[in-house]
Amino acid sequence: MRGIRPLVAGNWKMHGLGTSSAELRSLKDRLAEAPVPEADAIVCPPATLLARARDVLAGSAVALGAQDCHPLPSGPHTGDISAEMLADAGATAIIVGHSERRTDYGETDALVNAKAKAAFRAKLAAIICVGETELERRQGATLEVVRRQLQGSLPRGARARTTVIAYEPVWAIGTGLTPTPADVAEVHGFIRGELGQLLGQTEASLLRILYGGSVKPANASELLFVPDVDGALVGGASLKASDFYGILLAYAGRGAG
Ligand code: PGA
Repeated sequence: MRGIRPLVAGNWKMHGLGTSSAELRSLKDRLAEAPVPEADAIVCPPATLLARARDVLAGSAVALGAQDCHPLPSGPHTGDISAEMLADAGATAIIVGHSERRTDYGETDALVNAKAKAAFRAKLAAIICVGETELERRQGATLEVVRRQLQGSLPRGARARTTVIAYEPVWAIGTGLTPTPADVAEVHGFIRGELGQLLGQTEASLLRILYGGSVKPANASELLFVPDVDGALVGGASLKASDFYGILLAYAGRGAG
């Protein structure tokens, strides 16, 4: 056991209205009734729900995070939201560099790096996403792509306490497809090694590396107890309290991976 405390992070993406507070309340209640002290939990709803989610989750074991931010603290950027604003609304972490943003908005590693720095500036954690496309995997370029994304997206001087890497193969997101545990182990071990080069061995040995892409209660045990997997970034299955809790339950009674 390496002693890294696992994290299960829920990424709601562009889902959720005020009525979704009921799911958060249900998650809070389940965890109050049957806690899973072996793992941390964080839910990242859309920015519109942060303030309400903060109220609902107050006093619970579930932390609150956000999705994406602008690199600057404020300014003339219509429609954008800064890390400071997200912190003000109750977020403790921000997901940056998700493949959907890299694809939809052409976000580069340099921009993701600036966004991660913005999160640190606002005293928030950054959950930095990397992962190869289906074509890149077929071409045998997975490790090369992940190395390039890490080198470009991870700010120098990032600390394990405030940084999380999420490995999300693009082809596994929302598709029901998942890599084999051996493939996950290979990429996560590679990421740990790269982090050692980039941040030094101590930080690398403490930094959480999450797996993301079609994680659900039924496959959580298989994917989350792979070496160097320190938790999950969960999309679809985070929208229902029962599923998200079901994934957390994989850790119940078990130590860190
Ligand atoms: P999924 O999404 O769990 O729905 O595959 C994961 C993610 O994109 O973070």
